[in-house]
Amino acid sequence: MATMRAVRLHAFGEPEELVHEEVTRPEPGPGEVLVRVQAAGVNPPDWYARRGFVNFPVEVRPNWTPPLILGSDISGIVTELGPGVTQWQPGDEVLGLVNFPGRASGYAEYALSPAADLARRPAGLGPVEAAAVPMAGLTAYQIAFRHLAGRVDGTVLVNGAAGGVGHFAVQLLRIAGAKEVIAVASGRHQGFLLGLGADRFVDYTRTPAGDVVRDVDLLVDTVGGPEAHRLLPTVRRGGRIAPVFLGDYHRERAAELGILLNEKPWQVRSSGTDLAELAALVDTGRVEVGIDSVFPLREAAAAHAHAERGHLQGKIVLRVEE
Ligand SMILES: NC(=O)c1ccc[n+]([C@@H]2O[C@H](COP(=O)([O-])OP(=O)(O)OC[C@H]3O[C@@H](n4cnc5c(N)ncnc54)[C@H](OP(=O)(O)O)[C@@H]3O)[C@@H](O)[C@H]2O)c1
Repeated sequence: MATMRAVRLHAFGEPEELVHEEVTRPEPGPGEVLVRVQAAGVNPPDWYARRGFVNFPVEVRPNWTPPLILGSDISGIVTELGPGVTQWQPGDEVLGLVNFPGRASGYAEYALSPAADLARRPAGLGPVEAAAVPMAGLTAYQIAFRHLAGRVDGTVLVNGAAGGVGHFAVQLLRIAGAKEVIAVASGRHQGFLLGLGADRFVDYTRTPAGDVVRDVDLLVDTVGGPEAHRLLPTVRRGGRIAPVFLGDYHRERAAELGILLNEKPWQVRSSGTDLAELAALVDTGRVEVGIDSVFPLREAAAAHAHAERGHLQGKIVLRVEE
């Protein structure tokens, strides 16, 4: 039996439950590709899973049982093809949001992926940068170019603008048609966000955006939570809120104010096709990838502890290839 290094979660709980160890290497089934992982992105759902999804309402909590390998974002090299896979060849350099929403096992030297979830990694994109793109990038990309296709215009406010999803949203909503982008984040991210093309910056630790911003056409809120309704005054009548996470938006008040609000946040979905288009935008320099920090795979627990402290500027990536 071939083995590989991986980080496995042995029990739901603190980062220390993530253990770097030798495990059996998986084999691709029909429609699957085995990828030798060079780097793996860290996303909030990874640490929600590590904690047993206790922040999710019970009725939507996934029923996963440790031991588990976490991780949905990978970049790497195709090494083996399962039956029926024709679009990839061993040696192809790829990136992917693997099987999302669903289970994936990216914190490892080798990971399986449905063939359709992968995109070719453009030459201008290194493995670490590529692993930072899939989930956060696709979340923003699918809002801008799928859910709101052709309907992005005017002023867009991005809350949580410096994080994984937020920094892609600032750039992609502009490309999708926004005339003005306002970024809301804590003060130390100001230079980063103006550098990514934001026209205006609001430091929410000094001034709540709800006090100083009015009449935006679209609010992309990556923060949500119990205080989400405080952003209602920023949106014009007839404007829209695109929540990225669960939040209390005082739905009835939003309706009185004539604000469009989805029933639930739009859920990002794996798509090799969307990811190829997004990767091309990065390759041509139209979209920049912010890297908050890089940890070796064996330090996945430290990466999780860092992620949970918050205030990220871009993405955390695990370097798998030594
Ligand atoms: N709907 C979907 O399919 C989908 C997909 C991916 C992620 N998500 C969810 O989206 C959320 C964001 O994900 P992410 O990967 O972008 O997380 P992240 O990289 O951790 O970024 C979160 C950002 O929010 C900022 N922030 C925290 N509190 C804030 C506040 N009160 N006001 C403004 N900014 C604040 C943080 O920095 P500062 O406080 O320093 O500014 C940080 O930069 C998570 O809840 C995640 O689960 C949903």
